[in-house]
Amino acid sequence: MLVSVKVETLVLFGATGDLAHRMLFPSLYNLHLDGLLAEALTIIASGRSQMDRAAFHAQVRAALAEHLPEDRLDADGTDAFLARIDYCAVDAGKGTGYDDLAAMLGDRLTRPIGVYLSTPPSMFGPIAQGLAAAGIACAECRIAMEKPIGHDLASSRDVNEQVGSAFAEERIFRIDHYLGKETVQNLLALRFANMLFEPLWNAQAIDHVQITVAETVGLEGRVSYYDGVGALKDMVQNHMLQLLAIIAMEPPASVSATAVRDEKVKLLRSLRKMTEADVRAHSVKGQYTAGAVKGEAVAGYADELGQPSNTETFVALKAYIDNWRWKGVPFYLRTGKRMPQRKSEVLIQFKPVPHNIFARVGAPKLDANVMVINLQPEENIRVKVMAKQPGLDRDGVKLRDVNLDVSLSHSFAGERRRIAYERLLLDFIEGDQTLFVRRDEVEAQWQWIDSIRDAWAAIDMVPQNYTAGSWGPSASVALIERDGASWDD
Ligand code: BG6
Repeated sequence: MLVSVKVETLVLFGATGDLAHRMLFPSLYNLHLDGLLAEALTIIASGRSQMDRAAFHAQVRAALAEHLPEDRLDADGTDAFLARIDYCAVDAGKGTGYDDLAAMLGDRLTRPIGVYLSTPPSMFGPIAQGLAAAGIACAECRIAMEKPIGHDLASSRDVNEQVGSAFAEERIFRIDHYLGKETVQNLLALRFANMLFEPLWNAQAIDHVQITVAETVGLEGRVSYYDGVGALKDMVQNHMLQLLAIIAMEPPASVSATAVRDEKVKLLRSLRKMTEADVRAHSVKGQYTAGAVKGEAVAGYADELGQPSNTETFVALKAYIDNWRWKGVPFYLRTGKRMPQRKSEVLIQFKPVPHNIFARVGAPKLDANVMVINLQPEENIRVKVMAKQPGLDRDGVKLRDVNLDVSLSHSFAGERRRIAYERLLLDFIEGDQTLFVRRDEVEAQWQWIDSIRDAWAAIDMVPQNYTAGSWGPSASVALIERDGASWDD
């Protein structure tokens, strides 16, 4: 849904940071090259350091060369892209530089401005208020923020209040970059543009659901951010709960921002909070020790950090959604760093057929259907169905499962896979909030996460070790195998 007109100026805070270099400028460049940015769109980059326009352009040039494939780099295109970019130093911590920014904006201040915050989250509130004080929060202005919004429910409310005092909710765009991924949006198409699955998408037909987001990377030099945060807050609170919400929500009436987010928030509020007994039985925390990933020796988390730590780099959870549709269906979630392979997938385990007509003619056991939706790095959907092995069956019918395979990369070969941020930046510029997280969603996510963290704290639960390059602590295997199921490794 377009809430307002396109912004004419994009102000990017944190423009000298890692995310801006790796993702934001390459994405904006791609949009520029494809003619998707209006002629008039100007980008004002802002960081703490004082530097002139030329020095900042040199940074962006280097970032594009490093992070874009060679065939996307175009000398004239790069020059034209850089011509859109100005630089203005603002020290948000000290609260200085806003007047210079307002002066640089000049008469653009009277037209829509989009401010994108790729800064430490502690700066979100102060920057929103600094902008308002300098008159850079006009009725047509909007603001985008990276995650995390706070570190628990109470602090997320504070951030939301602070930002909300300068910008109305329809003008706040909270980013979860998983929503920008094509394959995540495709989950909506799979569920709601097909008749095949939705009638079976419930506790009558589904035994359980697994969501795995496995990474091979370790700390990646993010020590100061990651330690003390851990996998639950870094990945589950946002990306995994958004995936879960899209997989499990009721059908929205349309893809409007309100309709989709209303359904997601209802679902998030139905997540059963965990007690101390629940986390003992239904959660596993892990931390990687030295091992090997993809054939290369890697250090353990504590070694990378330089000191022992209780931060979890892996978490597995068994969650329940207390509503009519999902009564009694476990949702197993797991995410970890230094896993054997990078893989994000959703697995839907269906129930067995109610009656096996082949039981007496040679096939006493039928495997239940399984649907595996691979989100990354592969993009495909696989459904396991039972089939009859060819033959005359004189010594009994032989049945086995075969795969119905839909390779999305193959079906849509030739289409460039866009960086998630291309979609999100364009939607932000154009004012479409559908793929951004609403305040009530973030707060519902924190409510559930806080229940787990509080219960962990109450029982002093510490992470169990797992060797880098493995699928996490053995307790994670036990968590699901106790129920007669197993992870799809
Ligand atoms: C980020 C987390 O939000 O998502 C990182 O902070 C994580 O720790 C990253 O590595 C994963 O994103 P992607 O797109 O590589 O799956």
